[in-house]
Amino acid sequence: PIVYHDFEFVLESKAHFDVQDRGVLFADGVYEVVRFDRGKAFAMQAHVDRLARSMAGIGLEGVSATPFAELSYELLERNQLSDAKVYWQVTRGPAARDFVVSESTEPTVTLIAYPTQPIDLDAPLAVGAGHIVEDCRWTRCWIKSLMLMPASLAKTEAVKAGAAEAIFERAKPGTDEKHITEGASTNVFIVREGQLCTHPDDGWVLGGITRQTLLDLAKHLGLPIREDAAFTREQLLAANEAFVCSTTQLTAITSVGDAVIADGTPGPTTQRLHEAYRALLL
Ligand code: PDD
Repeated sequence: PIVYHDFEFVLESKAHFDVQDRGVLFADGVYEVVRFDRGKAFAMQAHVDRLARSMAGIGLEGVSATPFAELSYELLERNQLSDAKVYWQVTRGPAARDFVVSESTEPTVTLIAYPTQPIDLDAPLAVGAGHIVEDCRWTRCWIKSLMLMPASLAKTEAVKAGAAEAIFERAKPGTDEKHITEGASTNVFIVREGQLCTHPDDGWVLGGITRQTLLDLAKHLGLPIREDAAFTREQLLAANEAFVCSTTQLTAITSVGDAVIADGTPGPTTQRLHEAYRALLL
């Protein structure tokens, strides 16, 4: 496979990181994952805009997010792919190890295409269990940071417990009540009291592009929405429906730990949103 690394398209085996890259030493960088289906990107501009926000969020300067769109299409062409997840990464670049960020580093840009199957209109909705884990991440989850240790450990624990996704729970500073924030790499939705609920896009979660797309679809379908308040573990367990979503998945969550959600099958709102979302992707 061919990747884009450090200003050139090269064979993956020829692409290497400087051992002093701040991405390696400090996880000092940000990323995006964009879905391409049949040669077309989904929500490209939203990914470009979020990359720009993430870079600004860590004060990373000198890289424009705009060319990532063109670079992605060229990467797919060079790999003769039309269906892929394209990973974008920008690190602050190499510098002798120092906690203090220097202004003179040259950022390292990397793009990798991971082949996927074209979206299948007839494929059934994915179903899995959720596993609740303490959200020990930082307070700037709106930045799509490379610092993924908490998410990686949480997902590993979830998979070991037989679950499909780790679901983070945290009490915000100064409060006692814990809330569900999001998944390790997804946003979490529930349906309760006839409303579609998800954590507000207030910085404690990543503002997912799929999250926003589904909220827009739900509005369009006339479904009542609640995104001004987070929900609790108890509300999740007692929900009528639950699902997680990201650029790479929409999975109905039918149980959490030992608790079965509703009747243990994907609910009607999840199914409707899944269909509407798929139609949008085609
Ligand atoms: N993850 N929340 C977190 C913490 C995420 O890492 C992601 C995406 C999402 C969903 O965002 P979007 O709908 O824009 O993909 C929510 C990507 C897919 C990843 O890390 O692989």
